[in-house]
Amino acid sequence: MANSTTIVIFGASGDLTQRKLVPALFNLYRKRRLPADFRIVGVAMTEWQDADFRAAVRVGVDRFSGYEFTGEEWAAFAARLYYRPGNFTMVRDFEQLAKTLAELESGPADRLYYLATPPRFYADIVARLGQTGLTVERDGWRRVIIEKPFGSDLTSARALNQSLHHVLDEKQIYRIDHYLGKETVQNLLVFRFANAIFEPVWNRNYVDHVQITVAEEVGVEHRAGYYDGAGVLRDMFQNHLLQLLSLVAMEPPGSFKADALRNEKVKVMSAVRPIPAGRVGDHTVRGQYRGYCGEPGVAPDSQTETYAALRLFIDNWRWQGVPFYLRSGKRLAEKTTEIVIQFKCPPTVMFPLSPGYDLTPNILALCLQPDEGIHLRFEAKVPDTAADMRSVDMEFHYRTSFGPAAIPEAYERLLLDALQGDAALFTRSDRIELAWELIDPILAAWRQPGGPPPAIYDPGAWGPTEADELLARDGRAWLHSCGRHAG
Ligand SMILES: NC(=O)c1ccc[n+]([C@@H]2O[C@H](COP(=O)([O-])OP(=O)(O)OC[C@H]3O[C@@H](n4cnc5c(N)ncnc54)[C@H](OP(=O)(O)O)[C@@H]3O)[C@@H](O)[C@H]2O)c1
Repeated sequence: MANSTTIVIFGASGDLTQRKLVPALFNLYRKRRLPADFRIVGVAMTEWQDADFRAAVRVGVDRFSGYEFTGEEWAAFAARLYYRPGNFTMVRDFEQLAKTLAELESGPADRLYYLATPPRFYADIVARLGQTGLTVERDGWRRVIIEKPFGSDLTSARALNQSLHHVLDEKQIYRIDHYLGKETVQNLLVFRFANAIFEPVWNRNYVDHVQITVAEEVGVEHRAGYYDGAGVLRDMFQNHLLQLLSLVAMEPPGSFKADALRNEKVKVMSAVRPIPAGRVGDHTVRGQYRGYCGEPGVAPDSQTETYAALRLFIDNWRWQGVPFYLRSGKRLAEKTTEIVIQFKCPPTVMFPLSPGYDLTPNILALCLQPDEGIHLRFEAKVPDTAADMRSVDMEFHYRTSFGPAAIPEAYERLLLDALQGDAALFTRSDRIELAWELIDPILAAWRQPGGPPPAIYDPGAWGPTEADELLARDGRAWLHSCGRHAG
């Protein structure tokens, strides 16, 4: 990347900028991955000078960059940080910004605009950028990163896509889902498509079912204002869980190019069978942790779900009839993100089984966090017995194979990809709309007046018992901790 490049962060005084964006940019700078001639311009309402911005983000870098660094390294980076106060709704502030950018760049430059702002400003900011000529690609590219959440339902997501497309070409838009920047999530693609041994069994002939769990130990914390209106389905399923489902279930793309990858994700999302209205209760579970309504900022009679479990089917040749169980919630027993693929049992067992011992199916567990790695569970003969068996795990851990510092923050990868024009790990407009099409009817059924309230579960449990029953009805059980049986 030889060109002069400017990264403009809207929302520069906010939490995301301090905790994620500037630490990620600093790490990229230290690794010499940013263009030689770059600058970062922060914009927000707070009346700061450059020095105030530099001091504020230094606090974030100290805490979150994860590396030791010298005063000289910081000083060299900080000299490229600028700040301009501005209101996202005022055209004159964007005109002023255009002048500032021209002065700082003093010549042709590429520009990345990062919208780290409350979602209600996304359309406004892009409209103002368009009005003031800041999106015109005359002397360099212009790209916009949009944070999540992208809409709150299909109607709002469509409206937002339309307002963005009014000003920008789709290729200029980078809708971020930081999950896709995680090393372990990218490794899903490598695992599936750079190894020959799994692909032949990755289908309905061998897979019994798939489980995807994104569990949090924390409660709603300081996010009650947003969360109580949104709930877990909008917060976690529409984006992260359905992204993981796409990566597990999609067909091999023809190449690693953005559109080849994104086409396959869209194909698999459009094959997910919608849950019919009137049958939502058969395929979903909705929960709320005990004490949620007493949290600061939460309505005392809130019906918002903090837990959800879904059973989905994918109507295509590869997956017909294989259930995908997805669950996510707050205040659960452990913080973990994992994908478990349970294979079918052998059709017949020639070994005499010890009394009370059932053959355990093979399980492949992809542990995305916190103990990043892969576990394969299979049956082994217990030594010094005739033919007694026990399940054993073969394990790969990132930290032991690649060292403790091997896993960078997702934002590093995503910022670098956006700077390099690689949109493979960003979400295209059609996929976002398909995800909402799936989620909207579930939310509508859950939220209809007079509908059943969410099932209450105790903090520290694995969700409501109704979620266990969802699988028990199919003769299955949730698995967690990368393959160990729940309970
Ligand atoms: N924080 C995270 O870890 C995280 C993670 C994933 C996604 N996100 C998403 O990232 C976005 C930003 O989140 P955040 O947590 O950083 O929010 P935040 O801390 O509330 O920051 C919001 C920023 O927007 C600025 N702002 C608000 N109204 C403005 C206006 N009219 N004119 C100019 N500036 C204005 C604020 O400036 P002043 O304070 O100076 O007024 C502040 O810099 C959200 O969409 C969020 O969903 C955040």
